[in-house]
Amino acid sequence: MKILSGIQPTGRPHWGNYFGAIRQYIALQDNEQAFYFIADLHALTTIRDAAVLRENSFAAALDLLALGLDPAKATLFIQSEVPEIPELTWLLMTVTQMHLLEKCHAYKDKKEKGLAADAGLFTYPVLMAADIIGYDSQIVPVGVDQVQHVEVTRDLAQRFNNIYRQDVFVLPEYRVLDTTAKVPGLDGEKMSKSYGNTVEIFEEPKKLRKKIMSIKTDSTPVEAPKNPDTCPVFTLYKLFSTQAEQDALAARYREGGMGYGEAKQSLYEKADAWFAPARERRADLASRPDDVHAILSDGAARARSKVRDVLARAQAACGVGPRR
Ligand code: TYM
Repeated sequence: MKILSGIQPTGRPHWGNYFGAIRQYIALQDNEQAFYFIADLHALTTIRDAAVLRENSFAAALDLLALGLDPAKATLFIQSEVPEIPELTWLLMTVTQMHLLEKCHAYKDKKEKGLAADAGLFTYPVLMAADIIGYDSQIVPVGVDQVQHVEVTRDLAQRFNNIYRQDVFVLPEYRVLDTTAKVPGLDGEKMSKSYGNTVEIFEEPKKLRKKIMSIKTDSTPVEAPKNPDTCPVFTLYKLFSTQAEQDALAARYREGGMGYGEAKQSLYEKADAWFAPARERRADLASRPDDVHAILSDGAARARSKVRDVLARAQAACGVGPRR
């Protein structure tokens, strides 16, 4: 199976990124081909500061490696180091109907708010389609918010194949985990940087505890029974615990006598223990930046050699590029 996914370096990654996507990347990295990249070209639609973007991209590489991405198994690279992708984007752009992009949520949301969108945001899904089909990807592990983009990718690939009457591109499928398709944030809404309701994966223990303690709960008194299913603390606790642990905490909610503070403390302990080894690995990797740069260079070289083949196929189909 050929796997591919990407993450934007727009800020520190959060639990939604981890449980929705990154954990899947790691679980799937033993496949015959796993390509994971840092989507810095996409991030240009929101970050306009060179130093910040470079720093974020490098930090994202540290994050993925620390969380368990193994460069001996998966190819890790930075999107902009594969210039064949923007080339492929243009070929796709010429078969992209405007109405398809007009309904894509990032653009639509901005427009509905009366904000001016630039062409980069409008054509964002075409670049993403090139990312995906450029590697003949079959499976794209993502959270539910990216499903629409994978569907657009399928449409574009199919349309290109139809127009040129050849199977140039492979049609990809998304892979979304049922239980973590849409991880909620501190307020119960989808966890998202733009809602300010995130918990960062590499949060310092002290800050982590403070954030968890600040989760809004209802005013049921300590003695009274509580409903775990409507409690954001319990929803997040489920991410980190086994079924038996969940059942035990749910029983404590229902029998009464447990304050929300205690549930928050349990969530804090679980989350802290879960990410502690990754925090240590990250500190170690950060002290060896040259090794990380070498991993990224090697990844970009591997990625380019794959995309070159796909691009050559696409160019041959539509009659551009060097004659072969
Ligand atoms: P990005 O950077 O916004 O998010 C990275 C991944 O995290 C998932 N995610 C979530 N999953 C569950 N619950 C949440 N609350 C949550 N928040 C984020 C996202 O679904 C995503 O899988 N456009 C992409 C980057 C990209 C890409 C690609 C992805 C560029 N090219 C090609 C796949 C294939 C994005 O902005 O993801």
